[in-house]
Amino acid sequence: MKVAVLGAAGGIGQALALLLKTQLPAGSQLSLYDIAPVTPGVAVDLSHIPTAVEIKGFSGEDPSPALVGADVVLISAGVARKPGMDRSDLFNINAGIVRNLIEKVAATCPKALIGIITNPVNTTVAIAAEVLKKAGVYDKNRLFGVTTLDVIRSETFIAELKGLDVKDVKVSVIGGHSGVTILPLLSQVAGVSFKDEEVAALTKRIQNAGTEVVEAKAGGGSATLSMGQAACRFGLSLVRGLLGEENVIECAYVDGGSEHAPLFAQPVLLGKNGIEKVLPYGELSAFEAQARDSMLDTLNADIQLGVDFVK
Ligand code: NAI
Repeated sequence: MKVAVLGAAGGIGQALALLLKTQLPAGSQLSLYDIAPVTPGVAVDLSHIPTAVEIKGFSGEDPSPALVGADVVLISAGVARKPGMDRSDLFNINAGIVRNLIEKVAATCPKALIGIITNPVNTTVAIAAEVLKKAGVYDKNRLFGVTTLDVIRSETFIAELKGLDVKDVKVSVIGGHSGVTILPLLSQVAGVSFKDEEVAALTKRIQNAGTEVVEAKAGGGSATLSMGQAACRFGLSLVRGLLGEENVIECAYVDGGSEHAPLFAQPVLLGKNGIEKVLPYGELSAFEAQARDSMLDTLNADIQLGVDFVK
């Protein structure tokens, strides 16, 4: 398996590259690309870690050399939030970056599974889909918005609140990846019950958890280490699916034929071709059904912004 990380010199990219270097299956290749000239050095640094994962770093204007033969491409290139910004403020810069990188992915490794981390994910995944369609290589089963950070935050906060071992907490997060479009399905968490006030407060905390980090870092960026872990979990799940492991399930923001929006985060079964099956997200509580319905205008507008950007 060859995994390429684009944006690899950044806060997320370096954490992700470190985790992949130590956790990818033996014999894998890891390819790092960033416009920052330090990137080959990041790869040399990581190459001294004794694992059977071969690593190479690339910088400069053209990501193509890093993409040759890639099975999985994870993209965290772009700018991150500062206090007072929401994810949509990143659109002006990140939209063009994602468009340009996906054009190169389409030309160099059109069959790769693509995970988009760059915000605003609700919109950048739509941009990626449109660029891939234009290039004639779009496969809805191979494109993912990475929403795993919402899932690991939910697991962590639920375990903390209820005094559980976090290993036993499983939760689906559906919708999108910003503010009210993030919807954790707390009613489905096995063996736990929440009071109405707990559901309202916990849902809000999960939706605003990114801002919690942005404010705590006070101008120093947004979530990088927890996102590195989330992206590593998701990237390894893509690899495990490609290698034929069964029952690999993750929530992701995908073109899965949802009745709610052209792109919608929900659980998917991963396999040798990316998405093997889009799974139903199950029964919702009245609170969740209301939250789902009231997010849809925002989510669909975010998606349309991406479609219009490429046209
Ligand atoms: P960062 O600023 O530390 O790193 C971004 C990297 O992208 C830099 O090294 C920069 O040189 C590189 N870059 C910029 N333009 C590029 C291009 N055209 N090609 C290749 N590399 C390029 O930012 P950080 O903290 O790593 O965040 C990256 C992105 O991830 C941001 O858009 C952020 O909002 C997003 N993010 C997404 C999350 C999610 O849950 N999906 C969570 C947290 C952040």
